[in-house]
Amino acid sequence: MLLQKQDFKKRIGCIGAGYVGGPTMAVIAAQCPDYSVTVVDINEKRIAAWNTDNLPIYEPGLLDVVKKARGRNLFFSTDVNAAIRESDVLFVSVNTPTKTFGEGAGKAADLQYWEETARNIIKASNSDKIIVEKSTLPVRTADAMDRILNANDKGIHFEVLSNPEFLAEGTAIEDLLHPERVLVGSRETETGLKARREIVDIYTNWVDRSKIITSNVWSAELSKLVANAFLAQRISSINSISALCEKTEADVGEVSYAIGTDKRIGSKFLNPSVGFGGSCFKKDILNLVYICEHYGLHEVASYWESVVRMNDYQIRRFVLTMVQSMFSTVSRKRIVLLGFAFKADTGDTRESPAIYVAKKLMDEQARLVISDPQALDNARHDLREHAAKIEFEKDPYKASRGAHALAVMTEWKEYKDLDFEKIFAAMEKPAFVFDGRNILDHRRLFEIGFNVYPIGKPPMSHF
Ligand SMILES: NC(=O)c1ccc[n+]([C@@H]2O[C@H](COP(=O)([O-])OP(=O)(O)OC[C@H]3O[C@@H](n4cnc5c(N)ncnc54)[C@H](O)[C@@H]3O)[C@@H](O)[C@H]2O)c1
Repeated sequence: MLLQKQDFKKRIGCIGAGYVGGPTMAVIAAQCPDYSVTVVDINEKRIAAWNTDNLPIYEPGLLDVVKKARGRNLFFSTDVNAAIRESDVLFVSVNTPTKTFGEGAGKAADLQYWEETARNIIKASNSDKIIVEKSTLPVRTADAMDRILNANDKGIHFEVLSNPEFLAEGTAIEDLLHPERVLVGSRETETGLKARREIVDIYTNWVDRSKIITSNVWSAELSKLVANAFLAQRISSINSISALCEKTEADVGEVSYAIGTDKRIGSKFLNPSVGFGGSCFKKDILNLVYICEHYGLHEVASYWESVVRMNDYQIRRFVLTMVQSMFSTVSRKRIVLLGFAFKADTGDTRESPAIYVAKKLMDEQARLVISDPQALDNARHDLREHAAKIEFEKDPYKASRGAHALAVMTEWKEYKDLDFEKIFAAMEKPAFVFDGRNILDHRRLFEIGFNVYPIGKPPMSHF
């Protein structure tokens, strides 16, 4: 049930209460007490959880922000139509996964949820509204949305803007409270510029104006895809070098440090790993690739596609190293995946490299144990076809009892501080560690007795 909203300066609605919609709107509500913010979703379970202290997603600091505003000017509801009707500004942050069927399958964005939302907006609206694309969308989606929305026969004007979200899971609240930039793109018409000012006004409640970038709507849409493509490209670049380091006795950590001190290169996002995951990088690059192909830019498409190819190679290479170094068989060996989330400080496992690694090890008939402080429910879901054969154990000590190998899949801080002597004592020998995140003290593990396989560094083996 929606509360009385007429006393608020502005009424904001958000369609989609996921990893983006929930935290983003919670921060807007907390920072703008004179705006009402209503977040709606068709997923009843998700909305019910947003109304408890057991939130549907794990994100450090999120509960405090939600508690500050919930019931005051932040509301979670399944009444999508009421939220549309009552809002002046509607953020749309529904999912935009990769298309799995028809033209563009495997690359293009599946915009069915977006279009359904647009049609809902037309049906439920009875006044002019600003529609803000929060989801990541192909460049020029606003054009299609504009045409669909403004073809309504009610005489209502919808102004479509792009305000892509740059938060990173695990640090979402910090990123939202102290963003490096906020990007607001609009048409450069009178109504477009007026709507742009309204969205900028929301953010100036807590973000310095100098950090709010305004642009045309196409630049804003494209900037989000390009930001993710550049970030992922850095990971693939350093991962490609990690493969070369393993062949040449160079140490990728040393290389990464040496090149990162060059200001033109910078040190961020140069950590080698088992590969990137998450719901966005792969999908957004493939989307970029599809758009480039659509415009006949085949060289550009193939350049960006290689970032994804390199990532797939890195994950495959990791499993191959595991199998080969364990005497070319892992059949019936107990192997513990330390971490399943695609990164630390989140329970999100979408596109996590651990999914591929787990499935591949199951194909090799390993006895798998999955450990993670936050992601075990999602892991059970991701591996549901194999779930009966897999052990899920939150406690890394219990998980590693009788194990032949540990593989670090997620850079959870607590894994660095584990008592590896105790773990080693309880494992089968020879005991192996495959550090897919290069977070452990490899020399120390080797001294304890482990055979250690980092990424992009010579292995330390007792054989
Ligand atoms: N997750 C991230 O870190 C991140 C960061 C920046 C941008 N994005 C982008 O933001 C968008 C949302 O991502 P997410 O991770 O929050 O996705 P999500 O799957 O967690 O959430 C999307 C929500 O939208 C709901 N939904 C779908 N159709 C609906 C409809 N017709 N009416 C009401 N609700 C509907 C779904 O039930 C779901 O709860 C995507 O485009 C993504 O690329 C994500």
